[in-house]
Amino acid sequence: MSKNQLDTKAQAWSALFSEPMSELVKRYTASVFFDQRLWQADITGSLAHAEMLHAQGILNAADHDAIRQGMAQIWTEIEGGNFEWKLDLEDVHLNIEARLTQLVGDAGKRLHTGRSRNDQVATDVRLWLRGEMDLIIDLLVDLQKSLVAVAEHNVDVILPGFTHLQVAQPVSFAHHLLAYVEMFARDVERMVDVRRRTNRLPLGSAALAGTTYPLDRERVAKTLGMVDDHGQPQVCQNSLDGVSDRDFAIEFTAAASLCMVHISRLSEELILWMSQNFGFIRIADRFTTGSSIMPQKKNPDVPELARGKTGRVVGHLMGLITLMKGQPLAYNKDNQEDKEPLFDTVDTLKDTLRIFSEMVGGQTNPATGHKEGGITVNPQAMEAAAKKGYATATDLADYLVKKGLPFRDAHEVVAHAVKTAQAAGKDLSELPLATLQQFNSAIEQDVFECLSLIGSLNARNTLGGTAPVQVRAQIARHLARLA
Ligand code: ARG
Repeated sequence: MSKNQLDTKAQAWSALFSEPMSELVKRYTASVFFDQRLWQADITGSLAHAEMLHAQGILNAADHDAIRQGMAQIWTEIEGGNFEWKLDLEDVHLNIEARLTQLVGDAGKRLHTGRSRNDQVATDVRLWLRGEMDLIIDLLVDLQKSLVAVAEHNVDVILPGFTHLQVAQPVSFAHHLLAYVEMFARDVERMVDVRRRTNRLPLGSAALAGTTYPLDRERVAKTLGMVDDHGQPQVCQNSLDGVSDRDFAIEFTAAASLCMVHISRLSEELILWMSQNFGFIRIADRFTTGSSIMPQKKNPDVPELARGKTGRVVGHLMGLITLMKGQPLAYNKDNQEDKEPLFDTVDTLKDTLRIFSEMVGGQTNPATGHKEGGITVNPQAMEAAAKKGYATATDLADYLVKKGLPFRDAHEVVAHAVKTAQAAGKDLSELPLATLQQFNSAIEQDVFECLSLIGSLNARNTLGGTAPVQVRAQIARHLARLA
């Protein structure tokens, strides 16, 4: 094989092999058609490596300059869609390196000094995922803002709270929405935490054992922003571990799965609430579709799909965790299979968060800075549902306890009262005082205060409770936190 052929093939192992790969094996082993999305991370990592090689006297200034210029051109080519990705060159790393060598000659071949694709790919995935996590954190903040914006307008709107999907006690609709804000706030915490462990540098681990060149790994870490809160470089401290573990990707997918599970629970509620039987809310038509046969239908396709896509993300978590199981140290080609599930998890989560922010809270009006056009709430339907389910029965029991009855006895008294009200087709608050007094003589006129929905809410005035004063305090806390 001539020197030129070697250049274009750029496969360092070619000389050893007596037969070419079949087309099927090439396709089977190649990753370039999906890992090309790592190109920015790959170039950024290579530039940081080259800069360090030069600083350490391993690469001369002319070669370093040539690499920088070549990479700048490649960046422009890829960005402009003018880069020819070749299956023969297997993956994003070999494609970029071969093009660099084509552009700048021997300097391109010197770039790979002191590194391997094993530490290169581990670095690329970490850099790429770090950037995606930052976007996801922003999207999670925006979704929380959407929920808080709707909550602000609905503190005094009362809906039945459910346990076992049976009407339990009345709650403020804002309180219900703020429960999701708490979930998404924890999702942010998880992302921030995973980001810390992702933001560590494998480069310099080389193939598995470290390298014979005097690399300055901490310098590369600093260049790439892989530093802790105090600006200290974060470097993988064991080369075997650095090239082989993908626990950060698994942790991320676990955090993404939990986030999707939260979205899925919200989806289920939106679907129920907009059904004819509930009629609590409407979502904008652009998030629904019609039926090809039933003209009256508006189907909640978006929340249904989000619920469905949750299964897919949880599936990716199972895929990644199983991928790791049974791999001996250090790098194995199995790890190439980390990318598609990871990419799809990121894409699915980002799209879902974006669409939910708008569906729930609407779009930000640039003139006012407020969100407009989110879900439409039907307070009458919510209130009627709360009344129909005897949501204030616990309040009557608490009332009797405060009059001196043991709670178990009060519970029994109220059960009789509810039975009577059901037979009469009325809410407890609609029974005459005389009727209520038949169940217990301690009941007086002031009972109606506690049987009202708003009375029930106001009574739950403890931290984390649904009393409107508590809910308003929570909204203020979230607004300050999210500002
Ligand atoms: N495309 C490979 C991957 O994604 C890059 C590392 C290849 N290393 C190797 N020794 N074959 O994992």
